[in-house]
Amino acid sequence: MKNIALFLSILFAHAVFAQTADEPKDFLTKEFHKERRQKLREKLPPNSVAVFFANAVRNRSNDVDYVYHQDPNFFYFTGYKEPNSVLLIFKDKQTANNGKQYDEIIFVQPRNERAEMWTGRRLGDSGVKARLGLENAFNNKEFKKYNVDFSKFDQILFIDFENDVRNEPYDSADLYDLIDQFKAKVNYPSTKSGLALNREPQKNNLNTTGLVDIMGSLRSIKAKEELDLIKKAVKISCAGQVEVMKAMKPGMSEREIQGIHEYVFKKYQAEDLGYPSIVGAGHNGCILHYIDNYKPNITTKELILMDLGAEYRGYTADITRTIPVSGKFSPEQKQIYELVLKAQEEAMKTCKPGTSFAELTAITRTVINKGLKDLGIIKSETEQHTYYPHGCCHHIGLDVHDWGPYDKLQENMVITIEPGIYIPENAPCDKKWWSIAVRIEDDFLITKDGNEHISASAPRKVEEIEATMKLPSPLDDFILPDLEKGK
Ligand code: GLY
Ligand code: MN
Ligand code: MN
Repeated sequence: MKNIALFLSILFAHAVFAQTADEPKDFLTKEFHKERRQKLREKLPPNSVAVFFANAVRNRSNDVDYVYHQDPNFFYFTGYKEPNSVLLIFKDKQTANNGKQYDEIIFVQPRNERAEMWTGRRLGDSGVKARLGLENAFNNKEFKKYNVDFSKFDQILFIDFENDVRNEPYDSADLYDLIDQFKAKVNYPSTKSGLALNREPQKNNLNTTGLVDIMGSLRSIKAKEELDLIKKAVKISCAGQVEVMKAMKPGMSEREIQGIHEYVFKKYQAEDLGYPSIVGAGHNGCILHYIDNYKPNITTKELILMDLGAEYRGYTADITRTIPVSGKFSPEQKQIYELVLKAQEEAMKTCKPGTSFAELTAITRTVINKGLKDLGIIKSETEQHTYYPHGCCHHIGLDVHDWGPYDKLQENMVITIEPGIYIPENAPCDKKWWSIAVRIEDDFLITKDGNEHISASAPRKVEEIEATMKLPSPLDDFILPDLEKGK
């Protein structure tokens, strides 16, 4: 009997690990994550510990959950893509009861034959040791009794718990329980006042704000391995824009155009989207984060604004192109487009180490305000208006709006420059401008003395876009049956 059980468990382990051959090989390496943990240690205050929790599993409806996505900080330090886990990184070496020294420890969900049959492979603690190189990996059920004297630390740094997390009745060490157990260990106040909501001076050793700057300073400066992945995500997203430009025809739906982009992402093995795809024709483009993408028939006279980013091995692009459905910009569309383009190009010239985010925004605003006045859309350059209602730049990386300082640019940051003009119906200007919405968004690596325009392969100038839209598309012959026919 024992032998059969042993045989089955070997078979199970073999079957599970054999499948991992399908997993992409170009995820970040365990050495990368180890180095990141060391960099964090260097930035932690004396006598402290940083505690990170995996992202929560979120319910979509009934017995269906949203597709799981790891918390980017957690991923950055571990490469672990499963839920129900807690990671402790200590500033200084700790000594275990058996005398062994360690400076990090992770608790992960255990392997479970039945659960894995339904929802997929798990690494378990031994897989985490072998594959992710975290030597001190334990079953998360051991966290509760794991003996750390948290009172001895001057600071315990963690991101405060402001999200609801569900408690699975059948699992005594899911994220809900791990957070609960952690709170008991560190004497987390029973009400939240005194922590995140009410930023009074700390009366204890809990620090829920310190990680924001530390993580921002780490994550905003990209390592070579990260840059390779970001560039890949960007290249894939540019390819999506090119294919859509070639395939675009009046009568297509916003959803169909979204589908072409996302098909290209998947064709190049991007595992996810960095954010929900924004595809807005005509006045829908005025909704900055329009994700309904419902419009069934886009029309010849409209522009279509397409803001999409593939996520590749955790890293996301963020690119917007705005193109005329007909393949040719109308005179008014072209005037607004060229103005946004000019604002972007002025910012690109100044985009280098030492320039501040505020300066880039100011440059784009100055160009746009002057242009809007010259076109008669506003009366003076200082007039308050809502035609350009957002900032022009942000970091990208593991998050589309990535963690980082928003003061001066530094070498190896990756940012967007994304000016826009949005003129809704009934705006107080000549109605020939109504429903023109243009955003042009590109991604830039900050180099030693300038920038590298890493999304340049998506056509951006008026002539380039119009020329690309004339090219044939493989989708020209992709005609599906009419489902209504013959009813
Ligand atoms: N795609 C969201 C943004 O451009 O910031
Ligand atoms: Mn953006
Ligand atoms: Mn965007």
